[in-house]
Amino acid sequence: MVMIAPSILSADFSKLGEDVERLDKAGADWIHIDVMDGNFVPNITIGAPIVRALRSKTNKTFDVHLMVANPSRFIDDFVDAGADIITIHLEAETHIDRAIQLIKSKGVKVGLALNPGTSVSLIKDLIPQLDMVLIMTVNPGFGGQKFIPYSFDKIREVKALKDKYNSNLLIQVDGGADKNNIKELAEAGATVIVAGSAIFKGNKIEENIKLLKENS
Ligand code: DX5
Ligand code: ZN
Repeated sequence: MVMIAPSILSADFSKLGEDVERLDKAGADWIHIDVMDGNFVPNITIGAPIVRALRSKTNKTFDVHLMVANPSRFIDDFVDAGADIITIHLEAETHIDRAIQLIKSKGVKVGLALNPGTSVSLIKDLIPQLDMVLIMTVNPGFGGQKFIPYSFDKIREVKALKDKYNSNLLIQVDGGADKNNIKELAEAGATVIVAGSAIFKGNKIEENIKLLKENS
């Protein structure tokens, strides 16, 4: 069974608290929070104060995806705001090992994200210390983009590393996931599926989560 992590990037930002409560009740496994800085990616979204404000709305895992340059600068802020797992991009840090250690030292889980154009071969040595690898299946920055098909090979490559070096590793996919590809994503090795537009489509959160679960 895969876990579903709805991305609140596609939520109604004027009703963010309500939408998070709806996700909780509808059986979302995690809440995926996309943080963008307008530098590492061409969009600006939400910061630690919003995460803190949402924390009282649910006990679900807050899965914070930092799409920011030099994310080490913000780890304390997001830990204090209530993050349970913090994912940073390999491409965003010069000293990635140091950044991973920093996150772990704060007592939260750590994920490492790869852009579509970044090879899985670069992270082999890091696999034993990670809780999760996030494979970006679209170029980060926006919701509602088309899934990049060569991502399937990358998921299989991460699965092979998991089998060899860290059987507890979670494999997350992010971007363009929907009811039509969720089964194939799980079969390739994905264990946590992020979905934004597929869940908030038509404001039918409850129905859409059910649909994703039924098709996985
Ligand atoms: C993209 C974000 C994703 C995005 C997914 O940069 O990291 O989490 O919200 O949205 P969909 O599911 O609509 O592709
Ligand atoms: Zn994301």
